[in-house]
Parts: sequence; structure tokens; C-alpha cells
Amino acid sequence: MQNSKIVVFGSSGQVGWELRHKLACLGQVTGVEYPEVDFRNPQSVRDALRSAQPGVIINAAAYTAVDKAESEPDLAMAINGAAPAVIAEEARRLGSILVHYSTDYVFDGTKQSPYVETDATNPMNIYGKTKLAGDEAIQASGCEYLILRTSWVYGARGNNFLLTMLRLAGEREELRIVDDQTGGPTSSECIAQATADILAQVLGPSGGGLEGRSGIYNLTNAGETTWFGFAQALLGRASRNLGTATPKLVPIPTSEFPRPARRPANSRLSCQRLEETFGVRMPHWEDALSLVLETLRDGVARA
Ligand SMILES: NC(=O)c1ccc[n+]([C@@H]2O[C@H](COP(=O)([O-])OP(=O)(O)OC[C@H]3O[C@@H](n4cnc5c(N)ncnc54)[C@H](OP(=O)(O)O)[C@@H]3O)[C@@H](O)[C@H]2O)c1
Repeated sequence: MQNSKIVVFGSSGQVGWELRHKLACLGQVTGVEYPEVDFRNPQSVRDALRSAQPGVIINAAAYTAVDKAESEPDLAMAINGAAPAVIAEEARRLGSILVHYSTDYVFDGTKQSPYVETDATNPMNIYGKTKLAGDEAIQASGCEYLILRTSWVYGARGNNFLLTMLRLAGEREELRIVDDQTGGPTSSECIAQATADILAQVLGPSGGGLEGRSGIYNLTNAGETTWFGFAQALLGRASRNLGTATPKLVPIPTSEFPRPARRPANSRLSCQRLEETFGVRMPHWEDALSLVLETLRDGVARA
């Protein structure tokens, strides 16, 4: 049976923070934070893993500044491409299971239906290219792994679209939001819960490790919307539940919001494989959104 020591890289990030809490009942969880371990220094990654000897390694650390990556490609590649390769190599050496997160941005968005795990990748930006390099290094490493591909991550803490919208709602009378990119907003808490549910099966008494289930799995909240639809839903709920101001929302095409990094028009990911393999069914994005806003409301009420 797999030892239940769990190391989480990136434990101060949106997903990493939630993981520390959701995984606590599965084993001894050690959160590893930057700069204690710096992915630009592969030896620090190796040292941390060799000293912890975990049964499970979770990599929630990444270079996630999608636009900035266009001007820092080497740094983004070191963190998203090279460091996961080192982690995977160590996972194979230690016999640990590696859980890693990937992104919808490995696709070019030209498909007319939700992407499945076997679809051809073709990233449109540097961030997507570096994340794909990490995925490929893990796949080639020979370790037991789960690459969980997610999209449009947000939560009650961190840098994300929801918190940006809530801030801007208080500052502006009108917000112009892109309405021609479609995807699945996914709460960091749901990602962590699904990860815990999968690991409970893998580490449990009848688990038997990953045995035959290593691979890539899409993992997003169910349903789909555009950034405009997401903004409308979150600000509508926030106005009712948090008393947030309600600016006028204007839908715009991507062409009217130029940014350094290009984004796919279709970011939808099918989670059928995850459901069939692990029985994990992701909540609808609107239900997940309500839960995150409740967390924020309770936080506000406690303050
Ligand atoms: N955010 C999204 O919309 C999105 C979408 C699809 C997939 N994903 C993927 O989901 C995973 C989790 O994303 P997230 O949104 O939770 O990320 P996040 O909130 O940006 O957190 C990233 C984490 O990586 C750490 N980190 C940054 N540079 C590092 C370095 N040089 N060495 C070690 N650690 C470093 C950060 O530490 P500090 O906080 O100290 O900087 C932070 O703990 C990532 O693999 C990401 O690519 C995210």
C-alpha cells in the first residue's frame, strides 16, 4: 500500500491552499511554499522530496501569470516545464504517485465541442506551451501520475477573475467583459475536493495505487459559460448576498480587449473520463460559485 505522507508544492496558491485542508484526513500533509523551495533551483526540489519521502507528491505550484509569461518565457518554462520534469523523476525514484495540474490553454480552442484528453494539443501562448512541456515530461518520466487539466480557476483567495470583478464593481460604473471565449469556471475548492476524493480511493485499504489509471484527466466544474456570463452570474449573486455594487456590464469580443497572450475561444473540457474512472462528478459551476460567495460572505461577517 502507498505510504500516506503527502507533499504539496505551491501550498500558498489558490488550489494548494485548499488542498492542505481537504487532504488532512488522508494522511500527513506537508505544504511546501516558495521561496522555501524555489522551482528555479531544481536541487531544492530534489532535496525537499528526498528528505520528506512522500507516498504522494502534489504539484500545485506554477507560473500562472499568463500575459506576463509572453515576456518571461524562460522563467515560465523553468517553473512549468523543467521543475515538473524533476519532480516526476524524483517520484519515479521514490515510487511516489504524482498529482499535477494542467490547463485548457494547451489547446488552441478551434474544436467545436468540449475537448477530451486525447485531443491534439496546440497551445496559442507561452504559458500553454510551458504547461504542455511539463505534462509531456511527466508522461515520459515513467512515474505513476495524474495530470488533472482544469480551467478558469477562482476561489475566495488569490489572484482570480471573481475577486477582480468584485473589486472593479466597487470602482467603476461600467465593465466591458469578453463574451466570445467559452469555458468552465472552476472553483479551487472543487478541484481540491475532487483531488481528495480520487486520492481517498487510491490510498484507501482497497485502493491498490493507481494501477492502470495513470494519465491525464480533465477536471472542471460542470456546465459552461463565457467570461461575460460568469461576470453576470457572480455580480448578480454578489449584489444580492454581499451588497456589492452593480455596474453596467457590456459584452465585448476578444478583439476589443487585446492582451499580450492569445486565448482559446473554446476552453470547454469534457470530464467524462474522470467520472467513468474514479466516479467523481463535478458540481455545476453556478453551484460552486454560490459556495465561494457564501465563503466570502461568512468571511466578511466574521471580520
Ligand atoms: N489559475 C487558473 O486560472 C488556472 C487555469 C488552469 C490551470 N491552472 C493550473 O492549476 C494549478 C494551480 O493554479 P493556481 O491558480 O492555484 O496557481 P496560483 O494561485 O498562481 O499559485 C501558484 C503557486 O505556485 C507558487 N510558485 C510560483 N513561483 C514559484 C517558484 N519559482 N517556485 C516554487 N513555487 C512557486 C506560488 O507561490 P507564491 O504565492 O509564493 O508566489 C503559489 O503557491 C497550476 O498548475 C496552474 O497552471 C490554473
